[in-house]
Amino acid sequence: MILVIGARSRLGAEAVRVLARSGQSVRVLARHAGAHLQLPGVETVVGDLADGDSLGRAMRGADRVLMATPPSPDTVAWTRHAVAAAMRAQVRLFVRCSMMGADPASPGVLMRGHGLSDVALAESGVPFVILRPNSCMQDCLAAILVSVDARGRFRASMGQVRVSMVDARDVAAAAHAVLAQPGHAGNAYVLTGPEALSYQDIADQLTKVLATRVTYVDSPPPASERAYAASGLDLWHSGALAEWDDHRRRSGRDGPASQVGDDLPRLIGRPACSLSQLIGETVVQP
Ligand SMILES: NC(=O)c1ccc[n+]([C@@H]2O[C@H](COP(=O)([O-])OP(=O)(O)OC[C@H]3O[C@@H](n4cnc5c(N)ncnc54)[C@H](OP(=O)(O)O)[C@@H]3O)[C@@H](O)[C@H]2O)c1
Repeated sequence: MILVIGARSRLGAEAVRVLARSGQSVRVLARHAGAHLQLPGVETVVGDLADGDSLGRAMRGADRVLMATPPSPDTVAWTRHAVAAAMRAQVRLFVRCSMMGADPASPGVLMRGHGLSDVALAESGVPFVILRPNSCMQDCLAAILVSVDARGRFRASMGQVRVSMVDARDVAAAAHAVLAQPGHAGNAYVLTGPEALSYQDIADQLTKVLATRVTYVDSPPPASERAYAASGLDLWHSGALAEWDDHRRRSGRDGPASQVGDDLPRLIGRPACSLSQLIGETVVQP
């Protein structure tokens, strides 16, 4: 039995689908009854990362855990609670969805939280795997498509940075690989897409599909914080993401976010999906 914590996150939801389809027995943790994925064979247990007792109940009978919860000021405490519960339940593998660039010494709050959480897990004694995906294509594409204006322009604060963004379904396939097959414990994998794209490259790809010129307008970082807040994220989360964008923007066109790795194709046994494939599947041509 695999317990998925953060089952309604972009990556967690894809992982639940892949795990359930492959015949794994899956339980998801939800904070409220009814707020669960309606999938056959997937059971729900109510609990909260802030409540250690509920985590203990959720892990009863689970032998593996996948944790993919949102960035939060409580990230490190939540990880410690979940890892302590996993230790008590004698879980045989704890897979944590971290982020590319996670670093306990990072000046950025997002990367530092993930880095400290990764260290807490790695030092706990619980057998672990850490997945470090780059930005997820589906989130980037969705944010761009909702913001394209009548003149075909969209704004982002990414300068000329190139990002090796990754398909969430590939990250889910990688999670499935490490959960279902032996031999991964103790490893951290960096999960990237097959190529690094600038936001201008994305505009060019959309122009080809949408029979109208799409233009990327680089906007100063405060604009991205406002955009995150407007999309419904709380103040802390919006600030943390904007800070991270700014960090990547300053690292330039070929900074760390542009690195393309080979962990993902090795784990899933096929090439990673490209953004043009995703655009082909999602964007309805006029
Ligand atoms: N999306 C990306 O581009 C991307 C890329 C790389 C890495 N990541 C990492 O992947 C992880 C997930 O990110 P996301 O943006 O997809 O997350 P998200 O959508 O904000 O996550 C929502 C999920 O977290 C659960 N959750 C929130 N607070 C909780 C609590 N106190 N106790 C238990 N569950 C709680 C929610 O449970 P309910 O079902 O109860 O609401 C829901 O299932 C993050 O660590 C992120 O840094 C994301």
